[in-house]
Amino acid sequence: MKKTLVLIVHPNLHNSHVNKRWAEEIEKQEGVTVRKLYDLYPDVKINVEEEQRMLLEHDRIVMQFPFYWYSSPSLLKEWQDQVLQYGWAYGPGGDNLHGKELLIAISTGGPQISYQAGGYNNYSISELLRPFQATSNLIGTRYLAPFTIHGAIRASKEEIDQSALDYAAYVINPEI
Ligand SMILES: Cc1cc2nc3c(=O)[nH]c(=O)nc-3n(C[C@H](O)[C@H](O)[C@H](O)COP(=O)(O)O)c2cc1C
Repeated sequence: MKKTLVLIVHPNLHNSHVNKRWAEEIEKQEGVTVRKLYDLYPDVKINVEEEQRMLLEHDRIVMQFPFYWYSSPSLLKEWQDQVLQYGWAYGPGGDNLHGKELLIAISTGGPQISYQAGGYNNYSISELLRPFQATSNLIGTRYLAPFTIHGAIRASKEEIDQSALDYAAYVINPEI
């Protein structure tokens, strides 16, 4: 079984509907380590050594977050800037993450229909997540198809519960 690290990056998980429910479901899974970055680093002082050690210990890395301004909440960007160092994650000798898998899991406020040419967000999620895909290419991880729930703001409890089950199943077995 792949050892899976799930980085949950939500600045207000307590008031979240989707990401909180996803967190509850993913925390039940065997072989999964969950780290809530805003709880760990409320002062944004990231423990780089600890984060790198966690990455080394796992085979599949999941970044779970609500889509904010067509990207992630800012702490995940800071995490990338600090943890994915030259000579460690890329560049000469920077092969520590080679062969691992990267999976992006997001909730969007906008409905699915808005994320396409002509829709009010105009671009698809695949297009908007290109920086994550490019990062994955650079650090030598295999980029898995992202998991998305659209229309998160209006989703019913039943829809969110179902998405949490689907999410956990996908994280454990993304080869479906
Ligand atoms: C600062 C901010 C930026 C947001 N940007 C977007 C966005 O670019 N696209 C989108 O579809 N939803 C956007 N949303 C809506 C969130 O994605 C949505 O509230 C979230 O996915 C709901 O998940 P939660 O219940 O776990 O909080 C934004 C929300 C906030 C607070």
